Amino acid sequence: MSVNLRGRHFLKEIDFTPVEWSYLIDLTAQLKVERKAGKFQQRLAGKNLALLFEKTSTRTRCAFEVAAYDEGAHVTTLDAGTSQMGHKESIADTVRVLSGMFDGIEYRGAAQGTVETMAKYSDVPVWNGLTDQWHPTQSLCDIFTMAEASKKALPEISYAYLGDSRFNMGCSLLIGGALAGADVRIISPTALQPGADVVTHANQIATQTGAKITITEDLDQVEGCDFIHTDIWVSMGEPEAVWAQRIELLRNYQVNAALLQRTGNPAVKFMHCLPSFHNRETQIGEKIFQLFGMGELEVTDEVFESANSIVFDQAENRMHSIKAVIVATLT
Ligand code: CP
Ligand code: NVA
Repeated sequence: MSVNLRGRHFLKEIDFTPVEWSYLIDLTAQLKVERKAGKFQQRLAGKNLALLFEKTSTRTRCAFEVAAYDEGAHVTTLDAGTSQMGHKESIADTVRVLSGMFDGIEYRGAAQGTVETMAKYSDVPVWNGLTDQWHPTQSLCDIFTMAEASKKALPEISYAYLGDSRFNMGCSLLIGGALAGADVRIISPTALQPGADVVTHANQIATQTGAKITITEDLDQVEGCDFIHTDIWVSMGEPEAVWAQRIELLRNYQVNAALLQRTGNPAVKFMHCLPSFHNRETQIGEKIFQLFGMGELEVTDEVFESANSIVFDQAENRMHSIKAVIVATLT
């Protein structure tokens, strides 16, 4: 089936059909092969991209910039507080200005509504570089990374996500896996499970793709998994005051050697969107240790640094998958 995503926004996974999602995964694979072979097609020559970051970023920003340069595009990056947007000029006005100058606009911020408003007023594709609710360039990367790291086809792959699954990564891995037809297990305390609307979407998609969706508190559900994912327990923009409660809720959901053993699969792979608090070598990691006595949070250093961990392959794949999104929507 032919797929054409030219001119489309990339705001959240549920805006895409399983066939379109699969197309983006295949395009990621193709672009990665090309780059490894030193082939640069300059598909975006003459294009200009605006990258707006209202929250901090290492991977997403660098991935957009390198992907753009590889394909011959230019980028302008605006960090929080360095433009008029928000405090002096509305989102709707800002995006109408930007879409007159740029061919595509990336946005990272808090509210999903902001990136949806941008898309409404923009004449050019808008790409969601993370909001509190969705992180679709990350889930695209993660699904691609699992396909790449496994001998199984995606519908045969099972994975669990442990952590705060109300937030972006839980929701995005749930829907991204549903679109891919995978066996997706969201394992979190009830208070941190995804909203009913997201779960309904996942189940609806699963009826088309054959995905298996499990939402549970039960850590035994990691049994047989090919991949274990987690994320930080307190996300960007959340107040520091939530750390105490979050640690209480998620302490038992730490990905450690015992948890990997519980899968019963010695070849299980560990994945994390990063950044990660797996040691005390960050300001926040050290502060949390001083306050709560935990020097490793969502994952132990042992697992993070183990042969099971593919987190840095996953991080590299952000660039290939983001390149696929840009190329698919602009050419
Ligand atoms: N995974 C991810 O989005 O990383 P950054 O916050 O560094 O962009
Ligand atoms: N849930 C994390 C993801 C970071 C890539 C956050 O929003 O901070």
